[in-house]
Amino acid sequence: MYKPKKIGVMGAGYVGLIKAVGFAEIKNKVICYDIDSIKIEKLKKGFLPIYEENLQLLLDSNLKEKNLIFTDSIKDVVENSEYLFIAVGTPSNEDGTANLEYLFNCLKDIARYMNNYKIIIIKSTVLPGTCKKASDYLKNQLELYGKNIDFDVVSNPEFLREGNAIYDFFYPDRIIIGTDNERARLAMKDLYKFFIDKDFPVLFTNHESSELIKLSSNAFLATKISFINELSRISEKVGANIKDISKGMGLDKRIGEKFLEAGPGYGGSCFPKDTKALYYFAKENNITLKIVESAIKTNEDQIKYSVSKIIKAMSPIEGKTLTVLGLTFKPNTDDIRESPSIYIIKELIAAKAIIQAYCFKGIPKARSFFVGEKNIKFCEDVYDSLKDSEACIIATDWQQFKNIDFDMMQQLMKENNLFDLRNIYYDNPRVKEMFNYFGLGVKTKVSEVFI
Ligand code: NAD
Ligand code: UGA
Repeated sequence: MYKPKKIGVMGAGYVGLIKAVGFAEIKNKVICYDIDSIKIEKLKKGFLPIYEENLQLLLDSNLKEKNLIFTDSIKDVVENSEYLFIAVGTPSNEDGTANLEYLFNCLKDIARYMNNYKIIIIKSTVLPGTCKKASDYLKNQLELYGKNIDFDVVSNPEFLREGNAIYDFFYPDRIIIGTDNERARLAMKDLYKFFIDKDFPVLFTNHESSELIKLSSNAFLATKISFINELSRISEKVGANIKDISKGMGLDKRIGEKFLEAGPGYGGSCFPKDTKALYYFAKENNITLKIVESAIKTNEDQIKYSVSKIIKAMSPIEGKTLTVLGLTFKPNTDDIRESPSIYIIKELIAAKAIIQAYCFKGIPKARSFFVGEKNIKFCEDVYDSLKDSEACIIATDWQQFKNIDFDMMQQLMKENNLFDLRNIYYDNPRVKEMFNYFGLGVKTKVSEVFI
């Protein structure tokens, strides 16, 4: 029989909110805290600060059931939790190293209000050795407050994908738990009983392995993408088709079909930052991770390559109106962090193009990002964004872009250039007939190669 747990979540972002809502849904008592009190006020009223499919439904029902509450009081979240998840950001510093400032601020706050034994669970993505450092830091802070309270720090990295986050919560590929003692191990087994009973794989390791599994997984996936992106350039040059290459390679079960989609480079809040964090961490330990270094470099090259392709084909680009479809770093999210689309727009504006942009969920965040920029117009409708445009650039592979009315698109556009950076129309002969079509690593009508 499962006894509901008192769970605190620190950080109501893309990860913290999913954890809070997910653990509430499986009948725990969850209290979620964020330093941003405006965000908390909205959440208390049921307004989400992010877009994630099905999150609203689960938020509404768990607020109603009172399994989930939000607070801007650090005292409330600490005092009312047996398990305390830390899910705050761990962004890159300017030099690419990991910034753990938010995490240590949380630990400082926890020490201040710590009232009894707790399990502190580090969900944020961190460098190997961080749990040990966090444990020492918390011990010191508690001593400063004259408190003699026991605790355990556990590593429990997060593997959710934005856009699939609720599914990933309930159907995880694996749960990784890094601990250094039996008490914490048993407590974590109890916390994850719902998943263990359903036979989802749970792997217990030491702290450092758990921390490194997270960074290595992201670095490996990023490498897979960079590999196919690099291949797409040679594919394009020799008249091969990168989509077929991905398919052909992926049919080998040892390789697997996933993460072999060529595109304008990987983006998001994690691959770019985590590959760099791992690379610089290894460097500080006198190890050069050459494969990770190449994956990072290839990604930077791929996005520049995508931009140069557009700029060269549209030359002279000054004063030309271009449509960009998709602003988010991937479909089904509103997240524009490190989005290739945003980078491409910045470069096109720098080259003096005028941008008309449309996205299903990315406009509010992109609007704030480009505030004050005169050469970008955000359109409420995909067809609005195509009016009088000289080129359309598909920057994000939202499913909905596949169902555009091509006749209307052709009628609205001034010129019929189509840059399909996600190859969503690669197997659509009609599109290739109607438009001056540029794919990435796929055969196009235009034989010029842009390197
Ligand atoms: P986010 O920026 O969406 O959310 C972080 C939240 O923490 C913000 O709301 C911020 O206000 C809050 N915060 C900052 N300092 C705080 C403090 N001292 N106390 C309480 N709240 C504080 O970040 P995210 O995307 O949810 O990522 C969080 C962590 O999870 C990162 O380490 C990230 O690498 C990792 N991760 C993210 C994803 C993802 O898909 N976004 C997936 C796996 C792992
Ligand atoms: C990624 C991982 O997939 C998650 O397991 C992990 O938890 C998360 O990072 C994290 O640590 O934050 P996410 O960033 O949501 O998840 O998105 P992905 O689906 O992995 O895509 C990342 C980027 O790679 C996107 O820009 C996407 O367009 C690009 N991508 C992905 C490709 O260009 N080709 C592919 O084949 C797959």
